[in-house]
Amino acid sequence: MRTQVGIVGAGPAGLTLARLLELAGIESVVLEARSREYCEARIRAGVLEQGTTDLLREAGVGGRLEREGIVHHGISLQFDGERHRIPLSDLAGGRSIVIYGQTEVVKDLIEARLASGLPIHFETPVEAVDAARGIVRFEGGELECDVIAGCDGFHGVCRASLPAGSFREFEREYPYGWLGILADVAPSIDELVYAHHERGFALLSLRSPTRSRYYLQCRPDEELSEWPDDRIWEELHRRTAVDGGTLHDGPVLEKGVTGMRSYVCEPMRHGRLFLAGDAAHIVPPTGAKGLNLAIHDVRTLAEALVQRYESGAESLLDAYSDHCLRRVWRCEHFSWWMTTMLHLPPGGDAFDLRLQHSQLRYVTTSAAQASALAENYVGLAEV
Ligand code: FAD
Ligand code: DHB
Repeated sequence: MRTQVGIVGAGPAGLTLARLLELAGIESVVLEARSREYCEARIRAGVLEQGTTDLLREAGVGGRLEREGIVHHGISLQFDGERHRIPLSDLAGGRSIVIYGQTEVVKDLIEARLASGLPIHFETPVEAVDAARGIVRFEGGELECDVIAGCDGFHGVCRASLPAGSFREFEREYPYGWLGILADVAPSIDELVYAHHERGFALLSLRSPTRSRYYLQCRPDEELSEWPDDRIWEELHRRTAVDGGTLHDGPVLEKGVTGMRSYVCEPMRHGRLFLAGDAAHIVPPTGAKGLNLAIHDVRTLAEALVQRYESGAESLLDAYSDHCLRRVWRCEHFSWWMTTMLHLPPGGDAFDLRLQHSQLRYVTTSAAQASALAENYVGLAEV
């Protein structure tokens, strides 16, 4: 098999790139380890920056997003039993965020790919890639490409195929994780609530007018068996209680534990291989940046590939890694900052709590601090 761009992974990064290339008349083949059903059922991100929604609309896959996505103009930070609203749009030049599940983004993109009759091979795990020669190896075959897009997530094979010593890694593991639930109950909030509490962080989010998505700080190795539904609701009530606020319980449809880490691989380009999204970098979820960064990477890569195929020039491909890494590190900092401000460090004492309270008070009372949070949260136009 031969193609212009071999795309490893059908997550948001790989599927969006495939769509952008299709619109530019560039040929691609997508290879995905899992089944279509598995990819469409994986519950993850829910907050899309305006830059992400604009791109999906421009790419002609924004129809359902337009109808079902919920636009939010603010979030709240809660501490000491009180909620403080950050008016994102007022502080960030009118920009907003859209609540629309990553699962829905993936479904829309897969549907568009299949409707165009273009190649996407599910249940085809890539075993290795040759970055110098542009070869993707999978069971029973090889795909020869001008360029390989490594969009295979943090545990993928693209980065793992690179020779040791050819890249530099930056990493932090956090001593906590998130226990996330999807509940079949109308959200008890109009906007997201990030709650600091001495028992640990909690996040109230949503997916639709009838589905709530809630998270609790837990140990990274927490056993789900320790968390029957009653205990989850009790803990959510305790950590998010405010005067006049009620949290409605409901049937839990799904629950899972996610560890938290920061990770960056430099550079993001190796010969013919371009890493994009979680394959190149991971952020802790507190800033809601992972999916948005993945989309930014592939937009940059698509523009560079258009230049290459239209004019033969490779200046944008050569600039790809440096360009992406500037935004990656901004988001790494923002995500680390949100995470450390809101999570209780294990073994943390009154000193840690006092520092966090002081920071939260400052962020919610200083216009400059709140603006900094808002413009990072909705997504910076330029980095
Ligand atoms: P992935 O989604 O990981 O996709 C990689 C694909 O490659 C997968 O389909 C995988 O099966 C496939 N693959 C792996 N190995 C191979 C192989 N060998 N061969 C072929 N295919 C392979 N981000 C946000 O922006 N906002 C949020 O609100 C947010 N919340 C989050 C909440 C949680 C609980 C979690 C876990 C994450 C959250 N994120 C959020 C992060 C976001 O989900 C990820 O950053 C995003 O999925 C990255 O997309 P990707 O396409 O790079 O990687
Ligand atoms: C959601 C996930 C996040 O990581 C976040 O910061 C906000 C919301 C969500 O899944 O809804």
